[in-house]
Amino acid sequence: MVPASSSSGFDFVVAANRLPVDRHVHPDGSVEWRTSPGGLVTAMESVMQDREAAWVGWAGFAGEAPEPFDDGALRLCPVPLSTEEVADYYEGFSNDTLWPIYHDVIVPPTFHRSWWHAYRRVNERFAEAVAEVAAEGATVWVHDYQLQLVPALLRDRRPDLRIGWFNHIPFPPVELFSQLPWRAAILRGLLGADFLGFQRADDARNFMRACRSVLRATAKGDVVTWAGADDAQLGAAPRRVRAAAVPISIDAQGLRELAGSPEVQDRVTEIRASLGNPKVVLLGVDRLDYTKGIRHRLRAIGELLEDGEIAPPDVVFVQIATPSRERVEAYRLLREEIEGTVGRINGDFSHLGDTAVHYLHQSFGREEIAAFFQVADVMLVTPLRDGMNLVAKEYVTARHDGGGALVLSEFTGAAMELRQAYMCNPHDIAGLKETILRAIRDNPAAKRRRMSALRRRVHNHDVQTWAGEFLSALAAAPDRPAKSSSR
Ligand code: ADP
Ligand code: F6P
Repeated sequence: MVPASSSSGFDFVVAANRLPVDRHVHPDGSVEWRTSPGGLVTAMESVMQDREAAWVGWAGFAGEAPEPFDDGALRLCPVPLSTEEVADYYEGFSNDTLWPIYHDVIVPPTFHRSWWHAYRRVNERFAEAVAEVAAEGATVWVHDYQLQLVPALLRDRRPDLRIGWFNHIPFPPVELFSQLPWRAAILRGLLGADFLGFQRADDARNFMRACRSVLRATAKGDVVTWAGADDAQLGAAPRRVRAAAVPISIDAQGLRELAGSPEVQDRVTEIRASLGNPKVVLLGVDRLDYTKGIRHRLRAIGELLEDGEIAPPDVVFVQIATPSRERVEAYRLLREEIEGTVGRINGDFSHLGDTAVHYLHQSFGREEIAAFFQVADVMLVTPLRDGMNLVAKEYVTARHDGGGALVLSEFTGAAMELRQAYMCNPHDIAGLKETILRAIRDNPAAKRRRMSALRRRVHNHDVQTWAGEFLSALAAAPDRPAKSSSR
């Protein structure tokens, strides 16, 4: 896999389910590489810019993987997934077993032993791929819930490596985690790392409690000490691993510059005009995921229209929903429900030329999203559970004019930091309606004060700070890697 030019391997390797780009084949057979969806790629793309490193990940389609290729200083190393593995490892175990358990069981998780076997097999393949490209003593940064077995599988193959893992999503309370038939193997997989990073202190604590309860490990301060096990399935190596909160962020300076560019400013004017220059624009920007609280948001908007508190053309709501995981049943049902609700609301409250809810089920470029943020007088970020939610941080940063207002769910990681937002509990529809109205009607000076505090917070804790904190914690991890005799 490693071309001759780098036969000694890379000193820094990232492993994530997806590469930063996805391959799309058009009907005429032409191939396009597009930025992959999700917060992980948004954040890591800017961290990895100009770094000489390898990124091991899936190229987004089933079948044989393309050869490794370079994107600037970054070597992209595609890992192949068969059609069956996409169904069992990605759509199945990752997104229909782990995702619901790690997000408060908003929909019921599905357990299939065949999915677990595929998850193990694909994690082994990722570990192999990383072991091949990593230089002696390299630092490896593994990402997210799709690759929880990689740290231990990699350590078994390459004890010389320094291995860190970061979870972009929540880590569930032990009562939910314990439902997993493979809970011990997953914890042992994670304990192969030297340092484990989580979004919130609560996530790190949940992980430590799970280690105590499931593995009978000792957890003191932020260090888990595990004596190992006789069970060959779990591996035997005793480990001391630190687990702590390192909240992720955004490339604040890059976004500020983009948002202020003349092209984006022109788009702001155009978008507002095409919405009919309303007095107030409310906006939601999410992957179409049941964790994002889009249903609850639409319910509140529908009731506000019904109560006559808001009405087009003065107030309009725009919902941008990125297509996501469309072959997973819960996502198909969600899409049907959301689109039915939008249709019903518009049927009842729109007039010719005055649409109450604008719904866009599409992906956009970063420029367009930056323009939409500046069009939004009130941004609605109302997830039922979210590891962080970068959209909230992007919104306050893109509003370099000092305007806008952020309504933010208390169930996001972002709520731990963005305390001056208009906080809401999305399950409380009456409370959500009140909060939206407050964010619309509060006096402009109060809103500007809140936005300025929020922007400062993101400016002082940007994505580079996050990466720096993670990598320093990894470098200072309690256990030292062994010298490899095999290389
Ligand atoms: P998640 O990782 O769960 O998708 P985040 O809010 O953390 O949620 O990150 C989502 C990222 O995707 C943000 O950078 C956001 O700007 C981007 N994004 C969201 N919707 C779209 C869209 N329709 N088109 C392009 N980018 C989008
Ligand atoms: O941040 C959570 C996350 O699941 C990432 O792991 C992932 O890249 C992103 O959301 C988008 O999801 P998917 O890769 O399933 O399209």
